[in-house]
Amino acid sequence: MSLFYTRFVLPVIIIEMNLTLHVSHTAPGQLRPLNILRDLTGVADLIEVCFKENLDASGRSHLDEMRRQARDNVFLNWAPHMIDVISLPLSGFVWEDNGKVVGNVSLIPFHQYGRRLYLIANVATHPDYRRRGIGRALTEVAMRRAREKGADSLWLHVRDDNPGAIKIYRDLGFRERARRTEWYAPSTGLPRKSESARFRIRPRAARDWNFQRNWLERAYPPEMSWYQQQSWSSFGPYLWDGFYRLLSDIDVSQWSVEADGQLRGSVSCRYQSGKTANLWLASPPRPDYEALVGLLLYTRRMYAQQQGVHIEYPAGPADEALRAAGFSPSRTLLWMESPGQQPN
Ligand SMILES: CC(C)(COP(=O)(O)OP(=O)(O)OC[C@H]1O[C@@H](n2cnc3c(N)ncnc32)[C@H](O)[C@@H]1OP(=O)(O)O)[C@@H](O)C(=O)NCCC(=O)NCCS
Repeated sequence: MSLFYTRFVLPVIIIEMNLTLHVSHTAPGQLRPLNILRDLTGVADLIEVCFKENLDASGRSHLDEMRRQARDNVFLNWAPHMIDVISLPLSGFVWEDNGKVVGNVSLIPFHQYGRRLYLIANVATHPDYRRRGIGRALTEVAMRRAREKGADSLWLHVRDDNPGAIKIYRDLGFRERARRTEWYAPSTGLPRKSESARFRIRPRAARDWNFQRNWLERAYPPEMSWYQQQSWSSFGPYLWDGFYRLLSDIDVSQWSVEADGQLRGSVSCRYQSGKTANLWLASPPRPDYEALVGLLLYTRRMYAQQQGVHIEYPAGPADEALRAAGFSPSRTLLWMESPGQQPN
């Protein structure tokens, strides 16, 4: 089997188990499968260089964890057996030149109702090696590998301000399925309490659940739940939902806003003391701006002791209300999908 890039000149051979791919390119080095026994540190170093402008605290701790795993013999013995089972970047491909990892792609498996999904992640080419076809070749070989493994669907996410990467993915057949923004509001700088006679905020009630769940499913759609790992039992009003939260050790507080006698939105908040609180917003497709701002400000006040509040929400419908409530966008991600294996 061969992958062939006509505009490139030097031939390279990728040997991967029983599969040989012939790739031609102008970049020095070779493409080969990731070997977690020796590549983890090199991959962590590369990701640090390539994503340095966008690395947040969780990204940095992910890199620390990779470097720790590279020295952990127990992990290194166990991990190769778990490649297709757990959702960690344990497999993928690297581009190596003179013993240095200069390109990387990770392939992360997910499972949803018997479907196999693969997330293509950490696509990165060292700045000195860019625009020579490495990023494209890595993405392409990862797609091919995921399909060989029986993927039903391939996913990736990419920042909306990364046109170079978006072009690679579009050219390779990925299509946008969702656009989601992450917002953050600090615990400081809260405006003085503003009352409004038009809306009323109260604890979430069981009677809200039908609307709330429906709106939650629109905002956090089931086809993406494999990634969010969010069970709606975390927020449900019934006895079994309470058991679920107890057994899963989940702390949730929820509030709703009513205006003109109708439910206009609910917010669910999961938090750990002293950390950033995570919100899930349930709001109708055409939100009631004033009521939503009121609900969001109320929630910020409730968590003034935390390290701020965070929310991930589809880009667009609630942007104005989130800004008015003091949230700032940290990034917008395009979620892109490509079909998995073709049926015979
Ligand atoms: C995105 C990235 C992986 C691309 O790697 P690369 O090896 O330079 O990509 P390729 O050479 O295979 O590019 C293939 C094509 O994609 C497009 N492309 C790639 N980078 C581009 C850029 N900066 N601007 C515009 N188009 C770009 C071009 O069409 C290019 O073909 P061309 O060079 O013939 O015009 C690299 O820029 C990188 O590591 N960026 C930082 C990390 C990152 O953002 N990763 C993506 C995360 S989703």
